[in-house]
Amino acid sequence: MPLRAAIRTIPDYPKKGILFRDITTLLGDAKAFRKAVDELVQPWAGAKIEKVAGMEARGFILGGAVAHQLSAGFVPIRKKGKLPHQTVSISYALEYGVDEMEMHVDAVAQGEKVILVDDLIATGGTAEGAIRLLQKMGANVVAACFVIDLPDLGGAKKIEALGVPVRTLVAFEGH
Ligand code: PRP
Ligand code: MG
Repeated sequence: MPLRAAIRTIPDYPKKGILFRDITTLLGDAKAFRKAVDELVQPWAGAKIEKVAGMEARGFILGGAVAHQLSAGFVPIRKKGKLPHQTVSISYALEYGVDEMEMHVDAVAQGEKVILVDDLIATGGTAEGAIRLLQKMGANVVAACFVIDLPDLGGAKKIEALGVPVRTLVAFEGH
């Protein structure tokens, strides 16, 4: 079954006019979940990736699985106020307004090879914030990987323009 068919679309969620791409159906389907993780890691097998970073919340599910598959460590990038040790933070653009994300100061070492994983890229604001945070701490962010791309919102192009290659598995045009 193609991955696209495992993703459920909910019209008018969280508000009228939005088509919400729901990955819980993909995650709940053992074959689709494995296929998505296998396809995300495929270019990086043997690349000696040291850390996989995932953004709260949906990026934790896929990022954890990708890290395990690559025998890499996992770095949680969390919404403000959730991490117990000393953190670095960055503000990032949301559709309306700004928010802050944080990671632990010692979560990556200087020059470490990191890939970033999330379920979906839309405007790219979340991924850009995460990349800037990782780079601020000296990480070498070698790629950003997403199951879903909403190309009309331009996020993947924005991340490529930062010099970070982007890998996406399923595109929904017209979001
Ligand atoms: C969603 C999605 C991505 C982000 C993409 O997360 O999981 O992380 O939006 O949007 P962007 O490219 O425009 O930044 P959300 O902030 O809804 O939170 P969640 O993962 O905790 O559900
Ligand atoms: Mg998210």
